Parts: sequence; structure tokens; C-alpha cells
Amino acid sequence: MSLPTTTWGIGEYELMAERLRPAAEVAADSVGVGSGTRLLDVACGTGNLALAAAERGAVATGLDLEERLLQIARSRGGGQTTWRRSELLELDAESAAFDVVGSIFGAMYAADHEAAAAELARVCAPDGRVVSAAWTPDSFMPAFGRVASRFLPPPPSGAQPPSRWGEETALSEIFASAALRIESTGDETIELRFTDRGAATDFLIRTAGNVLAERRGLEQGGRWEELRRAVAELVCERDSSEGEQVLLTLSYLLAIATK
Ligand SMILES: C[S@@+](CC[C@H](N)C(=O)[O-])C[C@H]1O[C@@H](n2cnc3c(N)ncnc32)[C@H](O)[C@@H]1O
Repeated sequence: MSLPTTTWGIGEYELMAERLRPAAEVAADSVGVGSGTRLLDVACGTGNLALAAAERGAVATGLDLEERLLQIARSRGGGQTTWRRSELLELDAESAAFDVVGSIFGAMYAADHEAAAAELARVCAPDGRVVSAAWTPDSFMPAFGRVASRFLPPPPSGAQPPSRWGEETALSEIFASAALRIESTGDETIELRFTDRGAATDFLIRTAGNVLAERRGLEQGGRWEELRRAVAELVCERDSSEGEQVLLTLSYLLAIATK
């Protein structure tokens, strides 16, 4: 079966994933992943959640569309963890096969949010749980997305904002369409620290595959430097450090749902 590719494999997303690792740890602990838990990490990228689960004794599986990121996941260990290419709207996984189905900043990027939730619910065991982490609408990452979007091709018609998954009311509706009920939520943050604003700007761009995919066209159109300046301005607006370093706080909603 031929699977599509995304832009997440372009650039160095793995450097961002390293910084996002605490979200996977919090998610694994919040659903009590332990010895023998059957866990599926949906849109696993470099495998943060599956690997956190494996460290806690789970039997983990990670699915993602990007083979380059899956290769990094494989190289990180994880014992018996299984890694496969799979589209999240059509998960290559059996129905009701997992005690925990998690997606950390993954399902929120689905082309169809309700269809994604239906797939999370399908593969979740009747007494299992779904755990999701998603950027809150007013937080840094959606703001970065809005700045970048001024330089990128328009999203496909009908595309829904990913941060719907980061707002409790909207997420309840998405999950309800898949007969999932939110059991608990938490407002969480990850702090990104950089030596200076230039380093923060460079990091954001080199880890953003969707931006890098357009680099040549933007350079030819004389807009690459303009984009860099726009990202630098955002870093400047959002930097909340009081000392010499740069501090960007990424806020997200952690939600746990049952069937
Ligand atoms: C922000 S990254 C999150 C990766 C990982 N969960 C983490 O915490 O670092 C989004 C991931 O979703 C994957 N992805 C995007 N659309 C997808 C789709 N339709 N099916 C499967 N994976 C997808 C990308 O390849 C990427 O690895």
C-alpha cells in the first residue's frame, strides 16, 4: 500500500522532539503506564511516548508516516518496541488492541479531526484510555504556525486548526464524535531555553519541515530573510526570560479520555 509523506521528515525535527520529551513522560505517567501495558503511540515521530512507555515496562508500538523519523526512533532503543509506517486516519493496528492509545502533538495535525479521533477510539480496548497532548490555541507553537503561514501555501480547503485539540470544549466535541469521553485534563508547559534570540530563531526554522520545504521558492522570491525576521520578531515578543537567556514557554493541554 502506498502511503503519503508529510513535511515532518524534512529538516531536523528530531532536535525539537528531544525538547518535547517531557510531554511524553508526563503523558505516560498520567495514564499509569506500567509493566505489560499495551501502548500505541500515534504519529510517534522519533518515538518519545513509545520509548517512555517501554522504559516503564510497556509493550509499545509506534506508528508514523515519516520513515526518517521512525529510523531515529528505532535507533533509540525501546527493546521489543515495534515501529511501523502508518497513516493516522487509517491506523495499521487491530481494533481494541491497546490499553493506552496516545498521541503527543500528533493527531492534532490530522486532515480530519473527527476521523482521527475515531481511529484512536477504534484501536483502544473497551476499558482502555486515550491520552492526547496538543498546543493550546494562544500558545507559542500556534503563534509560530500563524507567522509561518504568511509565507507558506494555503492549507487545504476545510482544514481545521490543529489547536482545536488544545482547547477542552472543542476537544470534547471531537472526542464525543468518536464516543470518547474526557476523564481529566491538565494545563502543562514545556520551557525552551536558548543562549540568544538568534539561536532560538534558527532552531525554530531548522526544525520546521513545512517551512524548509518552501525555502527554495522563498529564497527565489526574495522572502526567506523576511520570514526569518518575522520569526525573530515573534521570539522577541514571546521571550519571557529575565536573565541573559531566551525562554519560550510552550503551553499544551493534556487530556485523558475513556471509551
Ligand atoms: C509534532 S510531530 C510529533 C511527533 C511525536 N509525537 C513527538 O512527540 O515528538 C507530528 C508527527 O505527526 C506525524 N504525522 C503528521 N501527519 C500524519 C499522518 N497523517 N499520519 C501519521 N503521522 C502523521 C509526523 O510525521 C510527525 O512525526
